[in-house]
Amino acid sequence: MRQAMVTALRDEGLITTHRVAAAMNAVPRHDFAPGEPLEKVYQTNTTLVPKIDGQGRQTSVVSASHIQAIQLEQADVGPGMKVLEIGSGGYNAALIAEIVGPTGSVTTVDIDADIVDRARAGLHRAGYEQVNVVLADAEHGVAAYAPYDRIIVTVGAWDIPPAWLDQLTPNGRIVVPLRFAGITRLVAFDRAPGRSVLAASNYRLGSFVPMQGDGAASEQLIPVTPDVGLRLDQDSALTFDVPALRKALHTKPVERWSGTPFDMPDELELYLLTSGPEMPLIHAAQAAIDQGVVNRTVRIGTPTLVRGGTLAYRIKRENPQTVSGYETGVIAHGPDAEQVSGELLAMIRAWAGGYYRRGAAHIIYHPHTGDTSGLTGWHTTKRHGVLAVTWP
Ligand SMILES: C[S@@+](CC[C@H](N)C(=O)[O-])C[C@H]1O[C@@H](n2cnc3c(N)ncnc32)[C@H](O)[C@@H]1O
Repeated sequence: MRQAMVTALRDEGLITTHRVAAAMNAVPRHDFAPGEPLEKVYQTNTTLVPKIDGQGRQTSVVSASHIQAIQLEQADVGPGMKVLEIGSGGYNAALIAEIVGPTGSVTTVDIDADIVDRARAGLHRAGYEQVNVVLADAEHGVAAYAPYDRIIVTVGAWDIPPAWLDQLTPNGRIVVPLRFAGITRLVAFDRAPGRSVLAASNYRLGSFVPMQGDGAASEQLIPVTPDVGLRLDQDSALTFDVPALRKALHTKPVERWSGTPFDMPDELELYLLTSGPEMPLIHAAQAAIDQGVVNRTVRIGTPTLVRGGTLAYRIKRENPQTVSGYETGVIAHGPDAEQVSGELLAMIRAWAGGYYRRGAAHIIYHPHTGDTSGLTGWHTTKRHGVLAVTWP
């Protein structure tokens, strides 16, 4: 089963190196998931042993192996390296221990004592007692074993706290599921040579349980109707004319088509969210979709251009004449629907013309310790720095 999992991850193009394949072939994943059926343990897209809080939210899981493969490949861990894993489960730390070998070292930190205990037990069962398992809030890193060649964050982060940078070697890399503009991307950041900034051009779609402790962040969900809401970063200063938008949602929308192909929605979404005006994501309950108030695209959250009492968001339809077999379009509600849908369509066409299937975004993190006053282009201010995205 372990070999079949590795073969599937290779076939999906997620494992690309021998090192990661060998580690995943070596570590018994089931040792870290007591009580879970073996078939489930060795699927590529299943999370294991979830811990649920009082409100029914997941606070911890052993991540799906496809996410672990992506992050390990992004991290480019090698023999002899010192690695910090943020968020424990034991399995991923064991994979890293396999790769760094006897001359390297692995430290894993978790804020939850139950998870630390379970990770320790799994590492003991599987024979990886050399891993340092630490109970702490990772906002402050783990100074005792620093500096690290790699920091691999396996919990949804909203920012990059100063301790992570202080504890990273000059040529180090941070792999982090970073949340910005309402979305999470698995980003691999390197220090830019001779500069204090972190730069990344390797990013993937992925989601994680949220950070707890000092680095926790929340988002705003602004209800437009009881079933439709607009979601924004917690620090966003955007405001909306909610009564006008509510009225707009109950008027007949304008529907327009771009003539450009729809695929890789996560890339298009990243472009829409980080290349123009700040956009919220529109979300809806199934009832609003069933009643035809919004398109079903909206269910999982879609970037939405809001101008006064008008809003416009992206949709798709089958179209065999495009390379992907689907076409991107726009729905707009409100008095300026023609104009606002045109603005969003222009962005969609710009993406299709210049960035389609290129993975072209450059993501730069500027810590507040440097000068961020001259930044142009799309950027968002976090607690400890400014995150900028450019589309060269
Ligand atoms: C997805 S799980 C980690 C999975 C693990 N890397 C594995 O082997 O698959 C995320 C973990 O992050 C932990 N966590 C959340 N906030 C944290 C914080 N501030 N510091 C350290 N750990 C934190 C949670 O308790 C949870 O166990």
